[in-house]
Amino acid sequence: MDDLYREIILDHYRNPRNKGTLEHPTHTFQDDNPLCGDRIRIDLKVNGAGVIEQVRFDGEGCAISQASASMLTEMVLGKSLEEAKALGKQDILDALGIPLGPVRIKCALLSLKVLKGALYGLPGVAEDDE
Ligand code: FES
Repeated sequence: MDDLYREIILDHYRNPRNKGTLEHPTHTFQDDNPLCGDRIRIDLKVNGAGVIEQVRFDGEGCAISQASASMLTEMVLGKSLEEAKALGKQDILDALGIPLGPVRIKCALLSLKVLKGALYGLPGVAEDDE
C-alpha cells in the first residue's frame, strides 16, 4: 500500500499540479522551512462569492514538501474560503498516506502553513498582491 502512495507522491513531485504564480492574486503568502530553507509560495484568486477559482504554488524543496503543495492546490480549487480554512494537518497527512517522522511532517505541513497565511491575509511577499 505504501508503494502506491509513494508513487503518487513522486508523481506530484515530478509533475506538479498548478505550479507557477498568478499575475494578480487576491491572496498570496510565502514561507520557508527554517530547518532546510526549502520554500513555498501560494497564490489564490478568490471570486466575489468567496470561492477559490485559481490557485498556483511555487517553490523548491524536497519531494514531500513540493508534492504536498501540489496536492493541496488540488484540494482547495473550487472550495470556499471557509472550506479551505477548515483544512487541517490530518487532511494533508491522509493525502500523502505514508507514515512520516517529525522532520518529514514539517516538510508535509509547510504548504498548509503557507496556505493559511494566504487565506488569513498575512503580509505576503508578492509585489502585486492587490
Ligand atoms: Fe526541506 Fe523537506 S527537506 S521541506
